[in-house]
Amino acid sequence: ASSTEVDVSAIEPGQAIKAVFRKQPLFVKRLTAAEIAAANATPADSLRDPQTLAERTKEGHEDMLVTMGVCTHLGCVPLGAAEGEVKGEYGGYFCPCHGSHYDTAGRIRKGPAPTNLEVPEYEFISDTVIQVG
Ligand code: FES
Repeated sequence: ASSTEVDVSAIEPGQAIKAVFRKQPLFVKRLTAAEIAAANATPADSLRDPQTLAERTKEGHEDMLVTMGVCTHLGCVPLGAAEGEVKGEYGGYFCPCHGSHYDTAGRIRKGPAPTNLEVPEYEFISDTVIQVG
């Protein structure tokens, strides 16, 4: 299987970059302290697809959110990575195709998408580089 390396060192808090993994969009976002706090303030068991931020990130790198940029409804590319202010009602990502709102941990909060944005298999191969896949 092919893997993708992404240098995350230039991503500022609150910024996300788009990369490509297995021909699909990949979002890599460095969360701000406020975005982490917002995610952790939400009880996971209240969610459609219950997961904590810690379960969706790597230990020691809770500020680095790596997800597929593919809406789990019908596969559109959500906004909020390169588009800056278009983050939806929960401050994460927004899929304009049918109105799915994802929170700062990429978890589905409102709209038709059944599950959270997928976190692919990945690991940190140094402090600043991740290898996806
Ligand atoms: Fe995203 Fe339908 S494809 S809401």
